[in-house]
Amino acid sequence: MNEERATQYYPDYLGLEGLLKLQKPLSLRDGKLIAHDEMLFIIIHQAYELWFKQILHEITACKEVMSKPEADDDGPDMNVVVHRLDRVVEIWKLLNHQVDVLETMTPLDFLEFRELLHGASGFQSRQFRQIEASLGLKVENRFRPDYYKHTRFGGFNEKDMAEITAFEEQETLLGLVEKWLERMPFFGAEFWQGWEETPADTGSSEQAPFWTRYRALYQRSLSERDQQADLLEQFDDIFFRAGWGPFRPGALRAALFIMLYRDEPMFRLPFALLNSLIEIDEHLGNFRYRHLQMVRRMIGSRVGTGGSSGQEYLQGAVNKNYIFKELAGITTYLIERRHLPVLPPRLHQALRFGYTSR
Ligand code: HEM
Repeated sequence: MNEERATQYYPDYLGLEGLLKLQKPLSLRDGKLIAHDEMLFIIIHQAYELWFKQILHEITACKEVMSKPEADDDGPDMNVVVHRLDRVVEIWKLLNHQVDVLETMTPLDFLEFRELLHGASGFQSRQFRQIEASLGLKVENRFRPDYYKHTRFGGFNEKDMAEITAFEEQETLLGLVEKWLERMPFFGAEFWQGWEETPADTGSSEQAPFWTRYRALYQRSLSERDQQADLLEQFDDIFFRAGWGPFRPGALRAALFIMLYRDEPMFRLPFALLNSLIEIDEHLGNFRYRHLQMVRRMIGSRVGTGGSSGQEYLQGAVNKNYIFKELAGITTYLIERRHLPVLPPRLHQALRFGYTSR
């Protein structure tokens, strides 16, 4: 044991003296809190912001790992990323639960201090915007960004605005995941020799035997009630022509392949990664929806303190502001496990014995 180690004192280590002085209700007059629930309102928001800080810390770390061109697919690197993203999922669950606590405040309790908030709103949460941006939500894909991306009343101050804009210009987790998917080595010709004699992924379904066969199997899996022609047209568009939303076709093919053969040991972590991203989107969507319901209950159809139309804006954000919805949507194109083509022996072996392309 190191005898010289400095003794730590819990309150000092956590900076509690400062932290516990940070609640400054506006309805506090002459030492008396006029609106009792304002304390809850402040503490809940502060707790959210602390957790937002942790979420950003995790996403930044994941982005760092994913930025390495040599990040391994079945080793410690990917394990760390999945582990941290799963932590983000758990934090979002906790954040969604906090809405229940806030809802113990009644609309009349809220009205006791609401007008004091004039101009202040969750709209001005810089960290929330940074989370959205670093995950990959682009300004042009959002519902009414003009409502909050300004420096007028209800918008951001100049400093926060500059920081958010800088964040929006950085590489996103979505962009890194896309590049990682495109790097998947398993479509290389060396794995597919003997499997109808041509490489599996040449970018066109005509030339790629795996995908040509898969497309036929997919077609066969569709029922009378499915819109066959539309779904096949979409299949070609998404996986071979235009891509889908922010994702390019090659990345989507790799994601579909991982989802189909997720039982192969080498795909365990890649599948877990895709799943975590889909879950993050789901819980973020749940937050937007829980928040909207709470707002409806709290202020009805009054406009927001940040100057938006209130529930109408929030409903638009619930409907539109997804980040990984295309990854979730890939399930439209899955077929039953028992109908999956058997993979060529070399690829099958590589997926079992920790093959690396290096
Ligand atoms: C009484 C409780 C609350 C009410 C009535 C409320 C109301 C609103 C309204 C009306 C908006 C739309 C913008 C505006 O015009 O102001 C908004 C946005 C927002 N609020 Fe709340 N809010 C409450 C609690 C919270 C809490 C606890 C959080 C946690 C951080 C939060 C985070 C946000 C965020 C991040 C936005 C922006 C959402 C987006 O643009 O997608 N709000 N809020």
